[in-house]
Amino acid sequence: MNETINMILERRSTRKFKPDMLGRNELDAIINAGIYAPSAMNQQSWDFTVIRSQEKIDLLNENSKKALAEMNYSNSHDHIFYHAPVVIIVSFHKEAMFPMADCSATIQNMLIAAHSLGIGSCWIGGAITYFTTGDRNREFDIPETHKPYFTIALGYEDYTDANRPARKSGTFRFLE
Ligand SMILES: Cc1cc2nc3c(=O)[nH]c(=O)nc-3n(C[C@H](O)[C@H](O)[C@H](O)COP(=O)(O)O)c2cc1C
Repeated sequence: MNETINMILERRSTRKFKPDMLGRNELDAIINAGIYAPSAMNQQSWDFTVIRSQEKIDLLNENSKKALAEMNYSNSHDHIFYHAPVVIIVSFHKEAMFPMADCSATIQNMLIAAHSLGIGSCWIGGAITYFTTGDRNREFDIPETHKPYFTIALGYEDYTDANRPARKSGTFRFLE
């Protein structure tokens, strides 16, 4: 297989991170890969908030866990971002045509780019309840045109999970 396909097949969610901060060049490269994702009508409806403060990440973790508990959703992890040194909030433009699809495409590009740089990542949905139960734009310096959506935890992997989820079979067919 070629290198790109290898990167896609090798990427796995990281759930234990080293505390080491990522370099600005690496983060720029990851975000740049994100903004080269396809988007409906080329609207590029995404917006990124890169959090590099452990204090702010911990606070978002606590608030997210509180919001989940208030909605009776259980979250067994002590830290929804697994103590990653960097969290990126991906926000979408409120008036975009297919903002969820645009943001999912940008996130996947970033996860693969991170892996290609030797950086672990995990797509995190655990903050959505906190984001949707109040206006969080000011807290995260997000433009009023956008709404926070998913988050990505990034950092150097501290532990490789041997339990790498297998893929289901029978999910595709050819029509000739
Ligand atoms: C929309 C979405 C939300 C996710 N939210 C979480 C999450 O909150 N916490 C987590 O540990 N993993 C989360 N994941 C990661 C999935 O659990 C993971 O991708 C899946 O189990 C497959 O494993 P792999 O990424 O190692 O291939 C999420 C993935 C997606 C696509």
